[in-house]
Amino acid sequence: MAMVQILHSFSIKKLEMKIAIVNGPNLNLTGHREVDVYGTQSFESFVAELDQTYPKLEIIYLQSNVEGELINFLHQLNEQPDIEGILLNAGAYTHTSIALGDAVAGIGKSVIEIHLSNVFKREGFRQISYIAPSCIGSISGFGMKSYKLGLEYFMNR
Ligand code: DQA
Repeated sequence: MAMVQILHSFSIKKLEMKIAIVNGPNLNLTGHREVDVYGTQSFESFVAELDQTYPKLEIIYLQSNVEGELINFLHQLNEQPDIEGILLNAGAYTHTSIALGDAVAGIGKSVIEIHLSNVFKREGFRQISYIAPSCIGSISGFGMKSYKLGLEYFMNR
């Protein structure tokens, strides 16, 4: 009983923070595209669900299909001292973009690499990541739960 109370107050304190979710190309189509790979839930509904589950958590959700815009987002987030961490699903740019990898390396924020699908079960080119070496970790293969697992890391570290 006492232990439950301690854990409860701990998590409330940690929930009051700001986290950014940054999604790259084609992730705006999630819920409609390749549903067998990426699932049927849209990001609009997922972010609304997160808002309800964690009312004290401030989530900044950014998505772009443009490589340079994603880099600008990361630079801008880096200027915001109250941002605890970034969950970055760079989509296909994960596997191609040295510039995005350099951006993650160049900012002072903790970044977790996120993928809906298990990229290691897929084509060989998806097993290359230019961002992973600068991330604190990578979460891949749990659908939308990949983001929740990343959030939980930031809430409990
Ligand atoms: C993805 C995996 C990438 O290989 C792919 O290009 C995506 C989505 C994922 O979330 O599983 O667009 O990042």
